[in-house]
Amino acid sequence: MSVREIPLIGDVSEGVVRVGATVRRPMRPSSPAVHALLRHLEAVGFDRAPRFLGTDERGRTILTYVEGVVPAHPLPAYAVSDEALTAVARLLRRFHDAAASFTPPPGATWEDGSAPEGPAELVGHCDVTPANVVFRETTQGLLPYALIDFDLARPTTRLFDVVTTVRHWAPLADPVDRDPMQRSLDAAARVRLFCDAYGLSARDRLMLVETARIRFGRSYTLMRDRARTLGGGWARMWAGGAGGRIRRAAAWLDANEDAIQRSLLPGS
Ligand SMILES: Nc1ncnc2c1ncn2[C@@H]1O[C@H](COP(=O)(O)OP(=O)(O)O)[C@@H](O)[C@H]1O
Ligand SMILES: [Mg+2]
Repeated sequence: MSVREIPLIGDVSEGVVRVGATVRRPMRPSSPAVHALLRHLEAVGFDRAPRFLGTDERGRTILTYVEGVVPAHPLPAYAVSDEALTAVARLLRRFHDAAASFTPPPGATWEDGSAPEGPAELVGHCDVTPANVVFRETTQGLLPYALIDFDLARPTTRLFDVVTTVRHWAPLADPVDRDPMQRSLDAAARVRLFCDAYGLSARDRLMLVETARIRFGRSYTLMRDRARTLGGGWARMWAGGAGGRIRRAAAWLDANEDAIQRSLLPGS
C-alpha cells in the first residue's frame, strides 16, 4: 500500500510532509533536543503541541498532525484580532509554565546555539509566528489552539520569547512591512494586551522595549549569517529583504518607544 505524502509549505524547512494523521520532518542536529522537549510537554500534560511519535523508516521525525487552520499571508482578519492576540499570549504562558520544568538532555544541541539572552529560565519556542500556530473554531470564531514548529526552540528567558511573539503579533513592525490587515492596528495597545493576558511580570515589562532592541540586532546578524552559511530558505528570505525589514522595525521601535512604554505603565 502506498501512503500519500502531502508537502507542507512553511517558512524555511524543506521536506516537511503530512502522512495521514502524522507529520514527517527531516532530522536536524537539534532534533534529539526538540524530541526531548516534546516528550516533556506530553509528560506534564501540555497538549497544545504536536506529540513526538518516533522516527520513520527514512530516519525522519514523526509528529502528530494537529487538526485546525494555520493562517497564511496575507493574514486573514481572524489572525489579527485582539481575541487571537490574547489567546496566543495565554497559549505561550501555558507553554512556558510547562517548559519551565524541562531539563535539556546533557550536551543538547539547539538550532541556534548562541548564548541565552540572560540566565536561561526555560526552553522557549522562539518562533511563535502566525504560521506556527494552529487555530481552531470556537464559539468566538477561530482562535489560537496549539504551537507547532519547535525547530528554533532553545534555552532563553520568558521575556525574550514574549518579545519574539509580539514582534509578529502586535506587531512590532513598520507599517510598510505589515500585512494589510495589520496596518491600522495600535501596536502599543496590543503589546499591553498581550502582556496582561500572558501575566508578564512588572520587571519584564520594564525591560521589554530594550529586549526588543537587542533582539532586532541579533536577528539581523543571525539571518544574514544563516543566509550565507546555510543558503536555502534562509538565503531566499534574506534576498527577499528580511534585513531591511528588521532595520525598519528597529527604527519604528525607536519612534514608538514612548507610546509603548506609556501603554505598559501600570494603571494606564
Ligand atoms: N504538527 C503539525 N500539525 C499541523 N500542521 C503542521 C504541523 N507541522 C507543520 N504543519 C504545517 O506545515 C507548515 C510548515 O511546517 P513548519 O514546521 O512550520 O515548517 P517551517 O520550518 O518551514 O516553517 C506549517 O505552517 C503548518 O501549516
Ligand atoms: Mg513554520
